[in-house]
Amino acid sequence: MAFQKDFVWGAATAAYQIEGAAAEDGRKPSVWDMYCRRPGATYLGQTGEVACDHYHRMASDVALMRELGLTGYRFSLSWSRILPDGVGAINPKGMDFYDRLVDCLLENGITPFITLYHWDLPLELYFQGGWMNADAPRWFAKYAAVVTERLSDRVRHFITFNEPQCFIGAGFLHGTQAPGLTLSLVETIRMSHLVMLAHGRAVAAMRAHAKQPIQIGYAPTGGNFYPATNTPEDIEAARARTFRVVDDPLWWADSISWWSDPVMLARYPDDGLAHFESYMPVGWEKDLDDICQPLDFYGENIYNARAVSAKEGPLEREAGHPTTAMGWPITPECLYWFPRFLYERYQKPIYITENGMANNDIITPDGKVHDGNRIDFMRRYLLELERARMDGVDIAGYFAWSLMDNFEWAHGYSARLGLTYIDYATQQRTIKDSGYWYRDVIASNGAKLHETVS
Ligand code: FCB
Repeated sequence: MAFQKDFVWGAATAAYQIEGAAAEDGRKPSVWDMYCRRPGATYLGQTGEVACDHYHRMASDVALMRELGLTGYRFSLSWSRILPDGVGAINPKGMDFYDRLVDCLLENGITPFITLYHWDLPLELYFQGGWMNADAPRWFAKYAAVVTERLSDRVRHFITFNEPQCFIGAGFLHGTQAPGLTLSLVETIRMSHLVMLAHGRAVAAMRAHAKQPIQIGYAPTGGNFYPATNTPEDIEAARARTFRVVDDPLWWADSISWWSDPVMLARYPDDGLAHFESYMPVGWEKDLDDICQPLDFYGENIYNARAVSAKEGPLEREAGHPTTAMGWPITPECLYWFPRFLYERYQKPIYITENGMANNDIITPDGKVHDGNRIDFMRRYLLELERARMDGVDIAGYFAWSLMDNFEWAHGYSARLGLTYIDYATQQRTIKDSGYWYRDVIASNGAKLHETVS
């Protein structure tokens, strides 16, 4: 059987994208609350103030997960709901919310996977320099300790950061996500080092406070490549290109090895150092042992890739290449090659912590959402993942992005990526065809993937 019995079939969300209740029960703003108020920053000025109102609908949303048959649910915590100023006093109501969510998941047989940080830095910490402040690793470790102290009696899976590539790259280089700045290499390389040190310190703090053995991982993303053909030369070109550090002041943060080699292997990649060593904070070498704490699994958010050939380099996409409603290319091969390359290099069980697509979903007169495109997408991608498994890559689970349509950052509510449709005016949830199809995939532990889609 391709997927082992305890394979985790999950779905993922993030706090700011679904919770709403932005100013309720003691939560204070994060950088995203601030950024959404900048004129022109998000689609039609939309914000996560209400989002999917999950904060008030948590129990029925967990019932939805049960209906889908999910065995795992990956969600993030809002740091400023738990510690409104980022450090200092705990907000009991905020913490209670996550406590109840965890209980509710467990009552429904769903394994919680907690992400500590999915981009929503408490605003107060941002005003103190955020990821540029040398105290940031200490702030993050303290927050990690608070969370572990309270939840690790029941939660066994934790993830430190979601996509540092994006919250540094889009947030501080391109200025297209919170806090919307366009900074220099010297500022952002320093931040990357402090973010990784924060990861390491948080892992150590979590181990120290855990109430039972816990599993800790990381959920980066990154530009990746698949071979244009199956020749050894093209495969090697894809591997080399995937782990190459991009020497570009705007795009370097997209590199996977820059963000994962220190965390997994206790070293920066040589080509990265050759480009950027002069921007590193003084004494960076002595932090590597703290950054590289033993992890139990490696997560990766994987959406698409580019083909590369040894002779021609990265290939242009042919005219009419399929894309999602957000314009992202549809390239199922990446769910075979990227996990394979990552497993070869980092040697840890891999979770696909996000994968999915935006689609122009509508509710048709029969009251349903016929998102055949998404079923086709997921089927093609999951078959590639299954192939990776069969070829010996240790894949521990898959989390569809997303459980439900939600606030897609700068795209606001214009992009729908859920297995469940949200009518934002009424907050009504409608499971899409893809949700029911995924339920059958889960129930058959993947066998359903081999039925052709009509
Ligand atoms: C990822 C993010 C996630 C969502 C998907 C579409 O980069 O981690 O929050 O926005 O893209």
